[in-house]
Amino acid sequence: MSSSLVRVLFTAALPLLLGACPLAVPSEESAGPGVFNNTTDPNNFGASYIGSAACAACHPDYAELTHAHGHGQALKRVEDAAPQYPAAGTRAGVPNPPVGRTWRDVSYVIGGYTHGAFFVDADGYVLTDGTAGTHAQWYLDFLQNGTTASFAAYKPEQTQPRAYAYECFRCHAVGAQPQDAARPQFQDGRPGIQGTWAEPGVTCEACHGPGSNHVKDPRARKIFADPSGRICARCHLDGDDPNVITAAGGFISHSAQFAELRASGGHAQFSCTVCHDPHVSTTYARSQGLRNDCAACHPDHNMAFHDDFTLVRGDYTEKLACASCHMPYAGRSNSAAGPALVGESEARVGDVRTHVFRIDTTGATAAQMFSADGSQVVKDNQGRAAVAPDFVCLRCHNGTGSVFIISAQGAATIGKNMHLKAAAPTGQ
Ligand code: HEC
Ligand code: HEC
Ligand code: HEC
Ligand code: HEC
Ligand code: HEC
Ligand code: HEC
Ligand code: HEC
Ligand code: HEC
Repeated sequence: MSSSLVRVLFTAALPLLLGACPLAVPSEESAGPGVFNNTTDPNNFGASYIGSAACAACHPDYAELTHAHGHGQALKRVEDAAPQYPAAGTRAGVPNPPVGRTWRDVSYVIGGYTHGAFFVDADGYVLTDGTAGTHAQWYLDFLQNGTTASFAAYKPEQTQPRAYAYECFRCHAVGAQPQDAARPQFQDGRPGIQGTWAEPGVTCEACHGPGSNHVKDPRARKIFADPSGRICARCHLDGDDPNVITAAGGFISHSAQFAELRASGGHAQFSCTVCHDPHVSTTYARSQGLRNDCAACHPDHNMAFHDDFTLVRGDYTEKLACASCHMPYAGRSNSAAGPALVGESEARVGDVRTHVFRIDTTGATAAQMFSADGSQVVKDNQGRAAVAPDFVCLRCHNGTGSVFIISAQGAATIGKNMHLKAAAPTGQ
């Protein structure tokens, strides 16, 4: 595999080098796109934040891509009317706020583009069931786990106003700053938003750092570009220990991708941008958003006797691909499957695909995948994590839809050496 891998990594970068230069003013002195001047200083030599509208003036293509990515939609300011979402977001959108409130009573919506949404009230507090007196979380359609767009429970026990604190917005905004004795500020002066940001949403300067020095003299390229993936870890890591894959309620955290990748064995040393274009949505523009799909590096792997199979369940169809088994929905951002989807089976289906990739067929259920207190994913003595067969196989083989039921133990048995089996074992 290694020689083909090297070739793929080189050729996959080529279309990017040749085809993607969006700059209105290309520079002759430029070392060329993809070779970056500043890969070490995320503060851009003491620059200040200027906002993504300024970047869009010279980089309109990147602005459009980032807007249609979940990043651009991570935190939306509300102006007396429902927030608008890019047309690419086919399952995006929020309804009017929970009963008894109008858009005037809402200052921000968190998300609403890929999985779900929360409402921040005019004083800056996140609505909970306990404070709203009704269901306060919005689930988007997520046919993968049987969810249709609806209000759902969010912290019924929380009856005191829930601050929208730094710990919550630090990954959903540019230039997030916690509140402390030296900086006692509230964003927009709203008492519930404890701390400040420079711009809501994960826009340009969240990854490139403050841009004031760059716009003064673009050709000096005093703007940070990170080829290493460390910048992604700032937000795609729940907590601050990359060795811990955090979990709760039987699912991996919604922002554990960096820790998962580190524990993936074969992919542990990869930067996120080996596979992802940082500007293009994977959710809504999958083929452009992924620079390398599995087959690019694993050309010789078969489909574990699932070639040309398609799962059909109501309106949901999925043609089997490597990710169908190796990136199951072991993470949870908002919704998860209920009995209507999984029937009597032991299946578990959250709404975020895992980046652990490895499958452990020595055990059958997620019980052995999580620590005893459920707060993290366990690892082997080489520091590797793995997903259990109940997450992998039973999200399809649960007796609903077009596919027959298998027990978790049966899945583990059939799954063992699965790629070496020319055809399915008979009599299952
Ligand atoms: C999620 C992080 C992220 C966001 C948000 C982001 N970028 Fe980037 N951008 C990167 C990374 C990482 C690179 C360099 C590495 C790569 O492309 O793999 C990059 C590269 C670039 C490049 C150089 C491309 C080249 O190949 O020479 C430009 C120009 C750019 N970004 C502009 C923007 C603008 C303008 C915005 C906002 C509209 C933006 N970026 C938003 C992460 C981001
Ligand atoms: C006045 C026009 C202008 C504005 C405004 C502008 N850029 Fe640029 N940007 C350029 C040009 C021109 C280049 C190419 C410079 C070169 O290669 O000589 C560039 C290059 C870049 C690069 C690649 C740097 C490298 O080392 O190759 C990134 C990343 C980038 N811009 C991000 C941004 C971000 C983020 C903003 C907003 C904060 C922004 N730009 C605002 C004109 C602009
Ligand atoms: C460590 C960074 C981080 C923190 C802290 C964080 N999030 Fe997130 N959030 C993410 C990431 C990453 C995703 C995307 C997961 C995915 O798409 O797989 C996300 C997704 C979401 C979504 C779904 C967005 C959509 O468009 O569907 C909502 C809603 C959300 N977060 C709310 C919150 C709330 C409320 C808090 C505070 C209690 C919070 N987040 C704290 C990183 C974070
Ligand atoms: C400032 C925090 C932050 C940084 C830095 C960041 N992300 Fe995200 N990312 C988020 C949040 C929050 C979401 C959820 C947004 C939503 O779904 O509405 C998200 C969602 C995503 C998604 C799913 C959304 C989609 O449209 O497909 C991908 C893929 C992703 N990030 C990749 C990356 C990569 C790769 C990097 C580094 C180049 C990166 N992110 C850097 C916060 C961040
Ligand atoms: C080996 C390739 C690979 C690497 C490396 C990789 N990803 Fe992904 N990622 C994928 C694929 C493939 C998908 C989409 C699977 C699908 O939906 O078909 C994805 C999806 C995602 C999503 C959306 C998940 C969801 O279900 O909402 C996020 C967020 C994300 N990646 C973030 C990251 C971050 C952050 C890193 C680096 C820590 C990273 N990825 C590294 C291949 C990769
Ligand atoms: C950029 C190249 C690249 C891409 C893209 C890639 N892989 Fe890999 N993968 C590797 C390498 C290198 C290894 C380690 C050597 C090996 O096991 O063959 C590996 C190992 C693995 C392993 C074994 C992990 C372990 O240590 O037990 C699995 C499973 C795997 N990959 C699945 C996938 C899937 C599924 C995808 C697509 C979502 C994918 N890979 C995309 C390069 C890649
Ligand atoms: C994304 C959905 C999906 C996942 C995940 C999945 N399967 Fe399947 N599987 C199917 C479909 C669709 C068929 C075709 C037969 C049917 O429609 O009943 C199938 C067929 C099979 C068959 C019969 C094959 C034949 O030739 O008749 C076996 C055995 C099987 N799967 C085992 C597994 C095991 C073990 C796993 C986990 C490692 C798994 N499957 C994961 C969807 C899935
Ligand atoms: C139907 C489910 C399923 C599909 C589809 C699937 N795999 Fe696997 N894969 C497994 C299972 C189960 C294991 C673990 C086998 C074991 O424990 O002995 C595995 C193991 C692996 C491994 C590590 C061990 C080995 O055989 O090298 C790699 C790498 C891998 N798969 C890559 C891929 C790639 C690439 C694709 C797409 C071409 C793919 N898989 C499609 C179920 C699947």
